[in-house]
Amino acid sequence: MSPSPTSVMPPALADPADGVAVLEPQAATAAYGIPLAVLAELTHRCPLQCPYCSNPLELERAKEELTTAEWQRVMSELADLGVLQLHLSGGEPTARRDLVKLVRHANHVGLYTNLITSAVLLNRDSLAALADAGLCHIQISFQGSMPEAADRVAGLNGAHAKKIAAARIARDLDLPLTVNAVIHRQNIDQLPAIIDMAVDLDADRLEVANVQYYGWALKNRAALMPTPAQVETAVAIVEAARKRLAGTLVIDHVIPDYYAVRPKKCMGGWGRQFFNISPSGKILPCHAAETITGLHFDSVRGNRSIAWIWQHSEALNRFRGTDWMREPCQSCAYREIDYGGCRCQAFALTGDAANTDPACTLSPRHERLFATAEHEATAGAAEFVYRNFSGGTPEGGGRQR
Ligand code: SF4
Ligand code: FES
Repeated sequence: MSPSPTSVMPPALADPADGVAVLEPQAATAAYGIPLAVLAELTHRCPLQCPYCSNPLELERAKEELTTAEWQRVMSELADLGVLQLHLSGGEPTARRDLVKLVRHANHVGLYTNLITSAVLLNRDSLAALADAGLCHIQISFQGSMPEAADRVAGLNGAHAKKIAAARIARDLDLPLTVNAVIHRQNIDQLPAIIDMAVDLDADRLEVANVQYYGWALKNRAALMPTPAQVETAVAIVEAARKRLAGTLVIDHVIPDYYAVRPKKCMGGWGRQFFNISPSGKILPCHAAETITGLHFDSVRGNRSIAWIWQHSEALNRFRGTDWMREPCQSCAYREIDYGGCRCQAFALTGDAANTDPACTLSPRHERLFATAEHEATAGAAEFVYRNFSGGTPEGGGRQR
């Protein structure tokens, strides 16, 4: 059963790590402060086919991608705006032949760069060139700790071994490393071995990130959803590892929000401290925003500056702050703490992005969501629908869900 809201809701305390509050005195825009970090999706091309990919179901094609010069102009604008961190992501960002040039430019304009990569296209030469261009940090995603099982999730034979090799070279080159492990029912039991793997790879940080169910992951939810008992065990394993490895490895743990008491403060609040740029240059409040129908997203290819878009974009303003909220959020003590959870999840699960995220125990839909998750975790199929430009390939030729 889902916990009862009144008995388990923690006190509504302000988040001391809220970036907007920290930066507000030097805000470049009038009302919403400066976006701390921007995620640049350089391309949707990728040699992997993970069934929980955060990219949209409608992937953008290579011919639509921003050019080298366009990305460089975007990076300069971001630095002028006051952005501090640039996450270079995809798809697979190393599929861009101009990645070294882009990293060099980002470094030149003073952005802290983090490469979010599957690492299967990297070797010593390309990693050395990236380090030389000023790359600040690398985050390598792993599908588990067991090569065969991990390669099955990635949809690419030999992927795990390539990732291990790239991670070792990255540390040889002194690049700070985060291991990102996306966790779901079919690999959650590998968690102790994944933690050992991160230590063995000399990572600074491990992200134990349970799948969040949008896009491809929502399509594959029945094959991915863990049981509440698995999640509870994982929480205990992470807690024990944090104590044991204090000073050696930082472990972040994102639990599946279907089983949470309160929803996550998605993106730090819509349009408050973060945005995405899609491969073709659309400015999105989050990676899944295009799943919400009826929103118009401005592009860096238009005649508006990024600073203007950040402040005036119709899509960024649609769910900013708290005025748009309905009950129970509107009168809730948490409304400026979690900003009503995730708009994309509210839309995907209720058909209306202005509804309370059903991950919240105060949502009238929460009990049903919890029950669906529990049911899928025990009765769900194991086969995946793989992410690709063909709109998804069912594993083993099975029927597409
Ligand atoms: Fe309150 Fe809405 Fe957050 Fe739930 S989602 S805790 S109702 S503000
Ligand atoms: Fe879009 Fe949460 S993923 S608001």
